[in-house]
Parts: sequence; C-alpha cells; structure tokens
Amino acid sequence: MRIDLHGVSKRFGRLAALDDLTLAIEPGRRVALIGPNGSGKSTLTRVLMGIVSFEGDIRLDGRDVRRERASLARGLAYVPQVAPQLGASVDEVVRSICAIRRIGTDEVRVLAERLGLDIGAAGRKPFRALSGGMKQKLLIALALAPEASLLILDEPTASLDAAARQVFYELVAERAGHATLLLCSHRLEEVRHLVDHVIGLHGGRIAYDGPVGDYLGARSHAVIEVYVSCAGHEPWLRDCGFRPGAGRGWARTVSHGDKLALVRQLTTVLKGDLENLVVRDLDLVEDPAAIAEAAWPDRPGCKQEGLA
Ligand SMILES: Nc1ncnc2c1ncn2[C@@H]1O[C@H](COP(=O)(O)OP(=O)(O)OP(=O)(O)O)[C@@H](O)[C@H]1O
Ligand SMILES: [Mg+2]
Repeated sequence: MRIDLHGVSKRFGRLAALDDLTLAIEPGRRVALIGPNGSGKSTLTRVLMGIVSFEGDIRLDGRDVRRERASLARGLAYVPQVAPQLGASVDEVVRSICAIRRIGTDEVRVLAERLGLDIGAAGRKPFRALSGGMKQKLLIALALAPEASLLILDEPTASLDAAARQVFYELVAERAGHATLLLCSHRLEEVRHLVDHVIGLHGGRIAYDGPVGDYLGARSHAVIEVYVSCAGHEPWLRDCGFRPGAGRGWARTVSHGDKLALVRQLTTVLKGDLENLVVRDLDLVEDPAAIAEAAWPDRPGCKQEGLA
C-alpha cells in the first residue's frame, strides 16, 4: 500500500504533535519509525489509519483516509503501543476479530503458540486480565494472521521477553510478504534487518527520511571487546584506542563504518593470542558518555576517561 501525506498536522491544544508533515512511502517499503519519546510516532500511525482527526491530506493507495476509512481498514493490520482494556474474554476477542477479518481462529492460535501464548489456557480470562506481554503476543498474532497490505506495529516488542522477541522477528520476516510495514521502535539495531528505510521524527517534524544503511552508517556505534592471552600486546592495543576493562579484556567503541576494518586488523595482528572477540552493536546512543558507560558498565570512572 502506498502512503502519501501532504501538509499533515495534529494539534492537542497548543501542542503540535505533528507539524506540517509531507511524506511519501512507496508500496512494499519496510519503514522503521524512530524518534524520542513524544516525537509523534504513535500519533502519526493513528492519523494514517484515520482514527484521530488531523489537518492536511492523507491518502492510502490514492484513497482519502477520511472518506474511505472503513473500506481501507480491511487492508490494515495494527498492533497498538498500549493494549485496549477490553472486558471481553480472550476467546470472544479472538472469535470476533477472526469473523471481521474472515480468517480461521486456528491461524491465530498457531501464531500465538509460537510466541509462547496458549490461547486455549487463557481463553476464558478477560483480555484486560492478561499480563502486558501476553496481551502483546495476542495482538501480534491477531495482526499477523490475516494478509494485510499495510502493517502498522507500534513498539510491538516492548513487553516481550527475549525468546518471544526473537520469534516476533521471525514471524514478521515470514508474514509481512509484500505489505508496507511501519514499525515504531526505540531499538533500531534490533529491527534493522526487517526494514529498508528509516523515518526519524523530532518534535512532530521529519528529522530523517532515507535508507536504513545510511542512517546507521552515520550515527551508530559498536563496542569491540578483545581478550588476549599475552600481555605483550598491551602497547599496540592502547595505540589502537583500546582501554583495559575487567580481567584481561580490552574495549573501545567504533563507528559502524570503521567496525569491520578494525575487526580485520585485530585478527591479523593478534593471531593465535586472540582468545575472544565480542562485537556489540549499540542502540543509537549519541552521547559519548553513554557510549563509554555501555562499553564497561561495571567499571567506575569509564565516563571520565572516555573510550575513543
Ligand atoms: N490524546 C492526547 N492528548 C493530548 N496530547 C497527546 C495525546 N496523544 C499524544 N499527545 C501528545 O503528543 C505528543 C506525541 O505523542 P506520541 O504518543 O505520538 O509520541 P511517541 O513518539 O509515540 O512517543 P513514545 O516513544 O513515548 O511512544 C506528546 O507530547 C504527547 O503528550
Ligand atoms: Mg508511541
């Protein structure tokens, strides 16, 4: 589904949650919508679906979301950031959504099970009595079961445990098909394999609109930890910008662009003395003190020293 916004604003009283956005998203594009808390990500997803009022013009596949909201809704699947507080039982929620979407309940059951939620066991509970992670699993299963042409996932993994997060990424890769995907996330490093494009919002305005690789290349960092069996490498490691951490470990941060070259250099120079090499991509921390802290969180003073 193609998305076109022209001069879109959304005000809550005096606050402009969205401020004159003009934007085009090609059909089939997989977009990460990123930005700090309060930057307008969820509001953008809601105006796109026509579920809150707005100024300006929004078209999905050329159709006006205000006038054709009901018919456009058939092609949409949505996981909200905050689950609705439904009093209906889990079974009732599943049955009614499956009836509206014309899909079998078994499909939802299978997807939920893969995420670690047993709908059979939870069936009689009121939906609102599920834990945050269980609600999110059910909403994800309900969104991914039908074929949609626009999939809007608003921080869908925020309450999921690590195992369910992993399954979620597999399911999106399997099921998104040719759908346009809009994924709000604070973990771009984690979702980058699912997306080809980034839209960054700041204060309700577009701060970035371009390929994910360019965004990460310019802004993201990795921490490289090196463990060596021989103290003789210490001067060379220091020259390369490494600092000692706990035990025999050495660490430094590098930009995304320099990461591979440094890993190659380490394996070439340290050869058989290299006991272990750990490369951790950092979420986008642009504050250098936060980067140093991430390299050796247990080590007092790393903030002041700063890692290169
Ligand atoms: N219903 C509402 N009434 C009043 N203000 C609102 C409402 N919904 C959102 N806002 C305000 O609009 C701004 C954008 O909110 P939004 O929820 O879109 O941010 P977000 O980027 O999704 O943030 P987060 O990362 O915390 O989810 C915020 O200042 C928020 O307080
Ligand atoms: Mg939000």
